[in-house]
Amino acid sequence: MAKLSKNTLAAHFIFTIFIVSALAENGSSFARSMDKKVLGMKKEKLSHFRLYWHDIVGGKNATAVPVVFPSRNSTTAFGMISVIDDPLTMGPELSSKMVGRAQGFYSAASQQEIGLLMAMNFAFMEGKYNGSTITILGRNTVFSKVREMPVIGGSGLFRFARGYVEARTHRFDPATGDAVVQYDCYVMHY
Ligand SMILES: *[C@@H]1O[C@H](CO)[C@@H](O)[C@H](O)[C@H]1NC(C)=O
Ligand SMILES: *[C@@H]1O[C@H](CO)[C@@H](O)[C@H](O)[C@H]1NC(C)=O
Ligand SMILES: *[C@@H]1O[C@H](CO)[C@@H](O)[C@H](O)[C@H]1NC(C)=O
Ligand SMILES: *[C@@H]1O[C@H](CO)[C@@H](O)[C@H](O)[C@H]1NC(C)=O
Repeated sequence: MAKLSKNTLAAHFIFTIFIVSALAENGSSFARSMDKKVLGMKKEKLSHFRLYWHDIVGGKNATAVPVVFPSRNSTTAFGMISVIDDPLTMGPELSSKMVGRAQGFYSAASQQEIGLLMAMNFAFMEGKYNGSTITILGRNTVFSKVREMPVIGGSGLFRFARGYVEARTHRFDPATGDAVVQYDCYVMHY
């Protein structure tokens, strides 16, 4: 009798394990592990892009519009948010070939200095990169010589992208606030 119930328990235990593992395998069908090759992910590449970012804040052809103004008379514009659709060109002149646009926003997020939070997509429009994007999210202290910001992802040719950019002001017009910034992008992708 004692032996029988022991056997029954053991059988029940094994059966439960079986069911649980079967459910773990098939039951959660929304998740599965995959071979990277299925998505064509063979070798990770490192690419470098040098682009010039044109921020035009005034006039008829403004590419940056303030949508939230600083709420207090802050010397660092703390609280300001601007939405941008800035041309990205191959050379420092706006007339040089446009290869994409920087779309997103920046906000003044520092009370001590001019320090921006940048949240933007570089939407490429040239050659094989047309339609692909990289996403940059980082801190931009605009009066520093070099500002480094992370590349946190991408789409199209830049799926699974990661990396960083280095931003260097090429030209800044204090009268208008217009700026041309050289972006060196270092991106790992497949
Ligand atoms: C789990 O999948 C396998 C193979 O597709 C199948 O033979 C088995 O019956 C499935 N189990 C359950 C509990 O659905
Ligand atoms: C705005 O853009 C148009 C078309 O590119 C150009 O003809 C015009 O000169 C620009 N205006 C200013 C103020 O830059
Ligand atoms: C804002 O500006 C006003 C007038 O210029 C000044 O009286 C006030 O102290 C300023 N407030 C702050 C928080 O700096
Ligand atoms: C980029 O793609 C868009 C949409 O597919 C197309 O209209 C455009 O002509 C392409 N541009 C270049 C430079 O290939």
